[in-house]
Amino acid sequence: MLKVILYIVVILAVIGGAIAGFHQYRVARYNQKDLSAFAGEQIPYTGKLGKVLVVYYSLTGHTQNIAEQIAHFTGGDLYRIQTQETFKLGPAFYAQVKKQLKTHEYPALAESAPDMSAYDIIFVGAPIWWYTAATPVWQFWQEADFKGKKVVPFSTQGSNYGTYFEDFKKQAQNAQVLDGAAFNNVDEKYRQAETNKIISWLNSLK
Ligand SMILES: Cc1cc2nc3c(=O)[nH]c(=O)nc-3n(C[C@H](O)[C@H](O)[C@H](O)COP(=O)(O)O)c2cc1C
Repeated sequence: MLKVILYIVVILAVIGGAIAGFHQYRVARYNQKDLSAFAGEQIPYTGKLGKVLVVYYSLTGHTQNIAEQIAHFTGGDLYRIQTQETFKLGPAFYAQVKKQLKTHEYPALAESAPDMSAYDIIFVGAPIWWYTAATPVWQFWQEADFKGKKVVPFSTQGSNYGTYFEDFKKQAQNAQVLDGAAFNNVDEKYRQAETNKIISWLNSLK
């Protein structure tokens, strides 16, 4: 009996490993295709976006990296969304986030939303958690007033941004939502292409 259980465990582990490996292979292929269009020397920033605010949440730095580049090229101001509670990554955290999304009880923020009246355009960046925005960004959406503003969503994720851009549009109904951009987490070798993808997207915004 023990032998049978052992066989089943080994078979499941092999199947799980194969699925994970295939997923990683597909994501790597996707990233290569997505960013090969932006390979080469840095392209010039030609956008004229007026006064820019870049709002973002970031737990492990990926969204912060994209946000800082947007602020750098546009000359914009940065605003980091921060939570009262400090989060620690781990299996329990994934479960905690899932519950927050299900109950719509999002984490309390450390400060109230900034005054956005002085800005012409507001970028809002979120890490993807469970195929939508990280829950602190959901909380920010409840508190922020985007009325009459141009707003632009962006995300960072492992591979799948799910319903983020649709969710964003629903939450910013009284704003003009411009085309967003999604950035998978990629190796260092793609860093320049990633920057070109950011600049090219910024240049396309009107
Ligand atoms: C709780 C949790 C859920 C996640 N869910 C997804 C997901 O649904 N899809 C995905 O592609 N990546 C997912 N990720 C990976 C993050 O989106 C990705 O690492 C992101 O770039 C992190 O941004 P940050 O470094 O700014 O915090 C998840 C990460 C965490 C912690």
